[in-house]
Amino acid sequence: MSFPRKWESNIKLMHSRLHGNETRFNDKVTLQRLSLIITRREKMDINKILATRASNIKASAIRELLKVAANPGMVSLGGGLPSPESFPLELVSELTEKVLSKYGSIALQYDMTEGFTPLRKALIEYVKTKGITADLNNIYITSGSQGLLDALGKLLISPGDYVAVEGPTYLAALQAFNAYEVKYAQMQTDDEGLIPESMEEMLKSYPIKFVYTIPTFQNPSGKTIKIKRREQIAEIVKKYDVLLIEDDPYGALRYRGEELPTIKSLAPENVIYASTFSKIFAPGLRVGFFVAPEKIGRWLVLVKQGVDLNTCTFTQALATEYLIGGYVPNQVKKIISLYSPKLKTMIKALGENFPKGFKWSDPDGGMFVWVEGPKTMDMEKVYKKAVERNVGFVPGKFFFPNPDDGIETMRLNFTNITEEQIKSSIRILADVVKEESLAV
Ligand SMILES: Cc1ncc(COP(=O)(O)O)c(C=O)c1O
Repeated sequence: MSFPRKWESNIKLMHSRLHGNETRFNDKVTLQRLSLIITRREKMDINKILATRASNIKASAIRELLKVAANPGMVSLGGGLPSPESFPLELVSELTEKVLSKYGSIALQYDMTEGFTPLRKALIEYVKTKGITADLNNIYITSGSQGLLDALGKLLISPGDYVAVEGPTYLAALQAFNAYEVKYAQMQTDDEGLIPESMEEMLKSYPIKFVYTIPTFQNPSGKTIKIKRREQIAEIVKKYDVLLIEDDPYGALRYRGEELPTIKSLAPENVIYASTFSKIFAPGLRVGFFVAPEKIGRWLVLVKQGVDLNTCTFTQALATEYLIGGYVPNQVKKIISLYSPKLKTMIKALGENFPKGFKWSDPDGGMFVWVEGPKTMDMEKVYKKAVERNVGFVPGKFFFPNPDDGIETMRLNFTNITEEQIKSSIRILADVVKEESLAV
């Protein structure tokens, strides 16, 4: 009988799980078999079994950052979490009772991949407020809007295909598409978001499978595409007959200004409109939805079948009662009253503390502020120093598909910390940025 002594405790543990503690531990054959299993485990080289596409899958910078953000005393301007204060716990408890009494075991059963029918019906009314006409054949539920991003990759991206994205764009969209061995055509943005001419340029230069944009209170920049540009973008997608994904998780969180028409309302046949309950109810429910031309929607449903069969029926039923009970306007008002002062505090603190040569977005809504420093500033270095002083944020370069872009930028989230924390963390960040300016 030969096996290294360091495995002894593992073998004993496995043995006791298999046979109970009292029996046959000295059985030589069992010990040999167990040691063989452990030997195999220790020798397995994961790299030998990964699919080639896995080389494109990298740990999210934000997830890594959130690990640091969990350190005691850390103030995190990273992440993108809604404030737990905004979660309507009592309402969820009431709605849970309602769901159980109204839907009973249906709410606990498997359901259609397309989504819970009462929710899809309620959403037909909800999206009308965004100028979108839909019927049951156009409206689908996903496990968060992230569920759609992955499904799009699976359905539409063959290795080497091009997708046009804003630079910067939503990191987890890049992650979702990366897994399908995508190439990116990076579209230019300015203070008013996506530049339509740049989008057209990409459509002329590359065989683009689809365009992905976040037109309202963009993640990460907080910027919004104004109406004239929306109209131009709609005209361009119609002219080139290309598919555009309009990702709109933040549109309802408007702190000032008038609501703008969705691109979907301007080019219905060419646009998939995606949104979510994550920012207007609670992200833990994992309920998102999209409105798509039926010919694409049907395919996306087939893809989703292989991923999760259906989005959680119970939380879909909760979302249904939340919508049809008319709770959305008040809840959104409450969220806005929590976030809007925090944004004002952040903008004021940036103005009071940050040195010349820096500028930042001043969003009309959403959850993020985007800071741009002088070209010589490396925000990853700033990040490392800031973390030593217990302040976290996300260096902006991670949001660009082109790895050389955005070195001098940072994304700041303001929703999940107090106004006092915003003031003190911006002061610290400004100190670090000033020190770093002297160092370059
Ligand atoms: C632009 C954008 N799209 C999609 C999502 C995914 O949201 P969820 O999957 O929670 O609906 C987020 C979340 O932060 C986001 O910022």
